[in-house]
Amino acid sequence: MTDNVGTPAIATHDLSKRYGNGGRGVLALDHVNLTIPPASVFGLLGPNGAGKTTLIKVLTGISDITAGSATVAGFDVRRESKAVRARIGWVAAEVILDDDFSGWENLWLQAKLQNLSDWEGRANHLLTYFSLQDRKDDKVSHYSTGMRKKLEIALALLHQPQVIFMDEPTIGLDVGTRRMLWDIVTGVHKEFGVTVLLTTHYIEEADALCDRLAIIDEGRIIAQGTPSELKARVHADLVLLEMSDGLDTPVVSAIPGVQEVRPQGGDWMIRVGSSEEFLPRLLAAIPTDQIRRISVEKPSLETVFLDLTGKRIGAEEPMRDIRKFYAQMRRARS
Ligand SMILES: Nc1ncnc2c1ncn2[C@@H]1O[C@H](COP(=O)(O)OP(=O)(O)OP(=O)(O)O)[C@@H](O)[C@H]1O
Ligand SMILES: [Mg+2]
Repeated sequence: MTDNVGTPAIATHDLSKRYGNGGRGVLALDHVNLTIPPASVFGLLGPNGAGKTTLIKVLTGISDITAGSATVAGFDVRRESKAVRARIGWVAAEVILDDDFSGWENLWLQAKLQNLSDWEGRANHLLTYFSLQDRKDDKVSHYSTGMRKKLEIALALLHQPQVIFMDEPTIGLDVGTRRMLWDIVTGVHKEFGVTVLLTTHYIEEADALCDRLAIIDEGRIIAQGTPSELKARVHADLVLLEMSDGLDTPVVSAIPGVQEVRPQGGDWMIRVGSSEEFLPRLLAAIPTDQIRRISVEKPSLETVFLDLTGKRIGAEEPMRDIRKFYAQMRRARS
């Protein structure tokens, strides 16, 4: 078995996945084309149900591909699944550790499951790397959340994979542990030379952690690039406006600097060159007593998503209320 050096860590070509039969069922992946270079941290950012876990499942061979093709570490996911499996590790969103076992016993179990011989040296190296060496004989049930995460990643790295998949690795973690995990992901990628494909619906996580990322929605990749490339796509601020009695769109569209006015759910989304210049003009142009809520989005990965889909990635954030907004405007004017 030769390793294909220099080939992409992951490549997909018109990859589609449909759950269920025939025309019905869910098209969870819709002609996904991705090329992920080796030794990178690649993020898949998208809302609930976008198809993130499904992509990991088809790339790891857990789920069948419906159409198209994919390679991992240069091997075809369908035809060479054994070669693929030998080269990948997986950190699932769900906990996979055995609580009644010690850290060392969990590593031993992982080695058994993967038929590894001579794994002890590697296991010790990983325990030292993750600062778990002193605690390796403690039961995992006595570990902190951060220690458990580290051990899970150590298990995924035990057989020296080239690619590791991390499905929502920081979901449900407190801010401190999440940051620690970001450092671990970056460190692991450098120390062990692995490519990391991680999924997330945290914008700041994708921004902070990933060399490149793809934004996925309803099974389709709607944008990809480095975080800065993606942010540079939206040269605009987005002003979101909720009115009690509709909006005189011709009046708003005529305000200098307005690029687009479009309905968005029950609200309005206005693309403007600069919200600082636009807002005083808006307030002079429309009946302010009809403004229910207003908020401004500065260019971010969230605005990229909002601009492309008219939706938000994360949980619906409450719009800033009108009093706060007025306070802000007063500050801006003084
Ligand atoms: N086993 C399954 N059978 C049928 N439909 C499925 C199955 N697994 C996922 N789906 C559907 O496929 C779509 C994509 O689901 P997937 O779990 O890949 O999304 P996700 O991006 O991982 O979402 P989340 O952020 O909630 O984890 C959803 O519409 C989901 O309901
Ligand atoms: Mg998922």
